[in-house]
Amino acid sequence: MKFPIIVVLILLTLSTTTLSKAELDANYYDKTCPQIEDIISETVQSASKQDPKIPARILRMFFHDCFIRGCDASILLDSTDTNEAEKDGPPNLSVHSFYVIDDAKAKLEKACPHTVSCADIIAIAARDVVTLSGGPFWEVLKGRKDGRISKASDTINLPAPTLNVTQLIQSFAKRDLSIKDLVTLSGGHTLGFSHCSSFQSRIHNFSLLHDIDPTLNTNFALGLKNKCPKPNTTDPNAGQFLDSTASVFDNDYFIQILGGKGLFSSDQSLVGDSRTKWIVEAFAKDQSVFFKEFVDSMLKLGNVGVLENGEVRLNCKVVNN
Ligand code: HEM
Ligand SMILES: *[C@@H]1O[C@H](CO)[C@@H](O)[C@H](O)[C@H]1NC(C)=O
Ligand SMILES: *[C@@H]1O[C@H](CO)[C@@H](O)[C@H](O)[C@H]1NC(C)=O
Ligand SMILES: *[C@@H]1O[C@H](CO)[C@@H](O)[C@H](O)[C@H]1NC(C)=O
Ligand SMILES: *[C@@H]1O[C@H](CO)[C@@H](O)[C@H](O)[C@H]1NC(C)=O
Repeated sequence: MKFPIIVVLILLTLSTTTLSKAELDANYYDKTCPQIEDIISETVQSASKQDPKIPARILRMFFHDCFIRGCDASILLDSTDTNEAEKDGPPNLSVHSFYVIDDAKAKLEKACPHTVSCADIIAIAARDVVTLSGGPFWEVLKGRKDGRISKASDTINLPAPTLNVTQLIQSFAKRDLSIKDLVTLSGGHTLGFSHCSSFQSRIHNFSLLHDIDPTLNTNFALGLKNKCPKPNTTDPNAGQFLDSTASVFDNDYFIQILGGKGLFSSDQSLVGDSRTKWIVEAFAKDQSVFFKEFVDSMLKLGNVGVLENGEVRLNCKVVNN
């Protein structure tokens, strides 16, 4: 009566990858900077050993970079006297650890001067953090160029955790990303941490009828209330890990949201709609299906808005003169 889920996913994959513009190339730096991947992996691994928060932060950095003005490292530019950069937009409060990319860039400028774009460093680092957290490995396509524009006001275009599934689908479609990509990439929430502010409206005075969002598992919600006791919690570090194994890249996120234990409304909305729920179920059931699709969707995310005429920044924090 129906195709097996894996066949449907493969068909979705084929139909979408053939449409994406494939200017990027796995071998882009083979001649000009053969050490690129070793230098980045080494930097990311040693930084992650020092600070276990780094893998999640770098994965999220890649998502934010690609969603605003395409994957052009606009997220790395510092504000100037005349311009407030993306970094200093409201979601700035929760993206950190830019120094890891800056460190890798400094080493790459020594090894292969003025060759490797900051946008490619983020893309490779994002792959590295997934792999070193237990997720899949894939060949990153390279050849992105860095942009010269970064505006704090653009960050309003990042999807908010309060969005419903229809709004999320629209936000992803604007970047030529499909419903499958939305569900798959949301699986990035297998890593990391959220502050109370991102989910507090679900656990305090949710609606006239319900103090707590009824789509939340009750015990889970009480645990969240315990961590974030007030509508505006005073502790800026308070919050909750995004899934029960937040330093391991696995399919637990999908199992959790099926049990009403998704932190954000955006996560939970994926199980409340027939367009997305079947994909969540397929990933919860079989981690290898999730891993395979995650690789495909990360390649598509890495292709969003790639610049034709950008530059290779010398310093990821400032545009070239
Ligand atoms: C679908 C729309 C998405 C929404 C609404 C969303 C929203 C959020 C929010 C609100 C946080 C918590 C920020 C905080 O309070 O500190 C967060 C964290 C995170 N997000 Fe997403 N996100 C989305 C998609 C993604 C995607 C596509 C990825 C990567 C593939 C991703 C990776 C992460 C990671 C790794 C963290 C943890 C960051 C850390 O521990 O520092 N998110 N996200
Ligand atoms: C951005 O974050 C940094 C710390 O990471 C902070 O010093 C700065 O004030 C923040 N900017 C805004 C506009 O919130
Ligand atoms: C999602 O939110 C939009 C805007 O608030 C609303 O018009 C729409 O009905 C909602 N859709 C669903 C499926 O809840
Ligand atoms: C809860 O929200 C309602 C409006 O939706 C408001 O009138 C009431 O004061 C709120 N209660 C608390 C404790 O914040
Ligand atoms: C809580 O914070 C929000 C936004 O930060 C603000 O609009 C609201 O007035 C605050 N509520 C209380 C009770 O402090």
